[in-house]
Amino acid sequence: MDNDIEKVLYSRDEIAGAAKRLGKELTRDYAGRQPLVISVLKGAILFTVDVLKEFDVYADIDFVDVSSYHGGTESSGKVDLVREISSDIKGRDIILVEDIIDTGRTLKYLIQLLEEKGAHDVKVCTLLDKPEGRVVDVKADYVGFNVPNEFVVGYGLDYNELYRNLPYVGILKPSVYQK
Ligand code: PRP
Ligand code: MN
Ligand code: MG
Repeated sequence: MDNDIEKVLYSRDEIAGAAKRLGKELTRDYAGRQPLVISVLKGAILFTVDVLKEFDVYADIDFVDVSSYHGGTESSGKVDLVREISSDIKGRDIILVEDIIDTGRTLKYLIQLLEEKGAHDVKVCTLLDKPEGRVVDVKADYVGFNVPNEFVVGYGLDYNELYRNLPYVGILKPSVYQK
């Protein structure tokens, strides 16, 4: 897998540092509340685990699975709900955990879904934010890194469902997807 990476952007250690920092910020901000942490599958799987280990607050955990890239490098523009949230959302303080905010479409869709279900508050914690990719107006509340406008994989992020298990985030060689 390493051979397909042009450049490592965030190493295993840098990511661990970011997860720790964000987990501590969340611990401070959510002290005395009982939030519901919702991990956005599949991309957020690794980041969710690492943030949760640093999150020292009574919290519920759930998952939602949405997809819009379908393995490719460009958003299809349409967010498909693959797996619904099973928890009761009404009146809850929600922390959405994402791997990356790019066009913002996924996040906008999820925030709307949670608001329709009666969430009291929705905050977003993302490892990566790509502000240059934005098509719709959404913002993350907790950000690990601002990422340049490149197609990145690793640590949960995929191309064609591969590379999610890389322990770092890197830029994929264009030769891999320009075939
Ligand atoms: C990716 C990524 C985010 C979303 C961000 O998910 O994990 O959820 O796209 O892009 P956006 O801001 O342009 O909407 P993807 O659709 O690839 O599904 P996956 O997480 O299962 O890989
Ligand atoms: Mn995703
Ligand atoms: Mg994907």
